[in-house]
Amino acid sequence: MKVTEIVKNIYSVGVSDWNVRNFHGYLTQRGSSYNSYLIIDDKIALIDTVKAPFTKEFIDRISLIVPLDKIDYVVSNHVEMDHSGAMPEIMKRCPNAVVLTSQSGEKEHKLHYDTSKWNVRVVQSGDSVSLGKRTLSFLMTPMVHWPDNMVTYCPEDKILFSNDAFGQHYASAEYYDDELPLDLILWEAKKYYANIVMPYSNQVVAALEAASKLDIKMIAPSHGLIWRSHIDKIFAAYNDWSHAKSSKKAVIVYDSMYGSTEKIAYAIRDAFESKGYDYKFFDLKSNHHSDVITDCLDAEYICVGSPTLNKNIMPSVASMLTYIQGLIVKGKKGILFGSYGWAPQNIKVMQRYFDESGIDLVASYNNNFIPNAEYLKSVTKDLETRI
Ligand code: FEO
Repeated sequence: MKVTEIVKNIYSVGVSDWNVRNFHGYLTQRGSSYNSYLIIDDKIALIDTVKAPFTKEFIDRISLIVPLDKIDYVVSNHVEMDHSGAMPEIMKRCPNAVVLTSQSGEKEHKLHYDTSKWNVRVVQSGDSVSLGKRTLSFLMTPMVHWPDNMVTYCPEDKILFSNDAFGQHYASAEYYDDELPLDLILWEAKKYYANIVMPYSNQVVAALEAASKLDIKMIAPSHGLIWRSHIDKIFAAYNDWSHAKSSKKAVIVYDSMYGSTEKIAYAIRDAFESKGYDYKFFDLKSNHHSDVITDCLDAEYICVGSPTLNKNIMPSVASMLTYIQGLIVKGKKGILFGSYGWAPQNIKVMQRYFDESGIDLVASYNNNFIPNAEYLKSVTKDLETRI
């Protein structure tokens, strides 16, 4: 077991979760990590903890550097259990430590754990704590993505301990953004943003504005790689994503029973191709909703198709639309399509999800049984006039 010193006297003591593939419905194909940082100064501070099943490994790592009862501060930037699961055991072993957390963090800790023996100090934006040579200052970032969220900044080392923000579900033996292909790390950061942070983009805009006033040389998130060489790129990406900037791109996603809805999906694809759009094409039999939503993040159009099934739609499409409804907040245009035998309810059912999501319906196409070549051509031609 090895502990990495990310700068002098600041250690990464978190754990990798190599085999996690389902993070509350999000497909984490590269696993994840629960990062925690230990700062050794006149006072010793631990920033965030790990998911409960990894408590022993976490304690073993900290113990390589310092006995736990020497820890003076435990900073809890976020109470979600992937970062606080080890707190009960840590607080048992650090009885003198002061927990530094936000006002909502204090309440949420009480709703998760028996905190009666914890010494909790609520911090606000602008508050700071001196560790000796270093200072920790706190910035509240509520609803990015829970009410309690805050980030911690060390001005002497210019490190932002950003918790979920700028994170990626990515387990690796490497620690830094310049040790793995940047496009993979940015893709995982984008997937993280789309699946976790997207509904709170307005709050991200405010948090970025506050963070832009800090001199940052390193961003140490609570998941994935540490940013030290590409801070400008992840800031620019967060700026684009939080402002819902879309490119000339369409996402086409569907499920099909006997191929009729799929034929219309290809006719829609032809229209976007002929108008020079980038596009992504997803059959839900082969693709996961968390990958589809990642491409929705910067798409101008979201096109969803299902046949009617039992006066309703395919369960896979209903699941996708439920996910879209929870995450998409503004500015998308939509197209619905499908096929039916005797009950053309599919479009109506799907439109309810679009209405709830605030997606502006541009066109819909619904065919009785099997679409012939003439119908498919008419779909392409009609859509070309609308996009
Ligand atoms: Fe990584 Fe919101 O927890």
